[in-house]
Amino acid sequence: MSPEPQNVLDYRGDNTIFLVWNFKKEQNVEAVFQRICALVINLNNSGDTRFPDSGATCVMGIGYDAWRRLGLPAPLPKELENFAPIIGDKHTAVSTRGDLHFHIKGSSSSICYDMAATLSQILDPVAVSVEEVHGFRYWDGRSILGFVDGTENPKGDKRAYFGLVGDNDPAYKGGSYLFVQKYVHDLKAFKALSLEDQEKVFGRSRDNDVEMPDDLKPSNSHIALTNVGDDLKIIRDNLPFGNMSTNEMGTYFIAYASTFSTVKKMLDNMFIGSPRGNYDRLLDFSTPKTGTLFFVPSSSFLKNVASGTPAPESVLSAPDAGGGAREAGSRPSSGSGSLLIGSLKKEAGYE
Ligand code: HEM
Repeated sequence: MSPEPQNVLDYRGDNTIFLVWNFKKEQNVEAVFQRICALVINLNNSGDTRFPDSGATCVMGIGYDAWRRLGLPAPLPKELENFAPIIGDKHTAVSTRGDLHFHIKGSSSSICYDMAATLSQILDPVAVSVEEVHGFRYWDGRSILGFVDGTENPKGDKRAYFGLVGDNDPAYKGGSYLFVQKYVHDLKAFKALSLEDQEKVFGRSRDNDVEMPDDLKPSNSHIALTNVGDDLKIIRDNLPFGNMSTNEMGTYFIAYASTFSTVKKMLDNMFIGSPRGNYDRLLDFSTPKTGTLFFVPSSSFLKNVASGTPAPESVLSAPDAGGGAREAGSRPSSGSGSLLIGSLKKEAGYE
């Protein structure tokens, strides 16, 4: 049976809370992580039962350092690593630390708030909340810059193909690479451009959201540089945010992908340029303040951790799981194949 994915393929909710938490030093984090896995499953089941039409979901991603600290299975997902900054001649995609990422969404902001509050209660003793962004659907799905964001996203069955790990990494089938960046826009400078020049930044018309013909689309426009071929797509779930008092208006860029290398190719084109120097004009109005890669394991994986039962057969049969050379810092699995995380599921009252 194929592992059941977390809810990475559905379409964007009207309200979203993005959260990044980092574990504190010298804390026993395994037990809390086990409770969080149980809680994430509980929150999704409960959201679905209580508010079936609200699309209320919570997806958890795990960073590379956290994966190793928690002693989760090795070998790791093939492309999971700490994101290395991409330094272009003019703009840099920074790298920032992130242990756990939560993507909470739903049409009701009450349920999003409650999910975030419940997670925080459990994480608070052992971790620090380092990022919280409340995203909202802006009119007909526009970024805060005024252009519709998401039009060329894969649709239907293609979402699973481009969004989930497949047979190329069987131990992690049904998982997904999650890459996030919090961008702040220079709205004043962007709005000072004529409409024609704004449209050249994206390569699309603003009002009716139509792509420019190839002979008119600038080579440094956003879509010219991020369209890296029909075989290389990602699932974007970006939402805008805005705060008048801090004058911080931006886009929380969030992508799920079957391979991180596809996202990396797009980032290289944007920041370094294609060819080098022909960087994305959008970056002249958008500065990334964060940049972190996570892995979103399948829901089946979370259930195994939550119940303390052995990891799925495929994970245990991976060459390194039974006592071979391990990467420094990772913990060995027990002889029984459990993740060495004692069962707190019943104790925590999630069952
Ligand atoms: C400053 C943050 C960003 C904003 C405001 C933004 C906005 C947009 C908009 C308005 C479009 C055109 C409509 C659509 O198809 O969605 C678009 C397309 C796209 N963006 Fe972004 N984007 C941002 C960052 C990124 C990043 C960091 C990546 C990749 C790492 C990316 C990948 C793409 C892709 C793949 C497309 C579709 C290209 C095509 O095939 O036509 N975007 N984006």
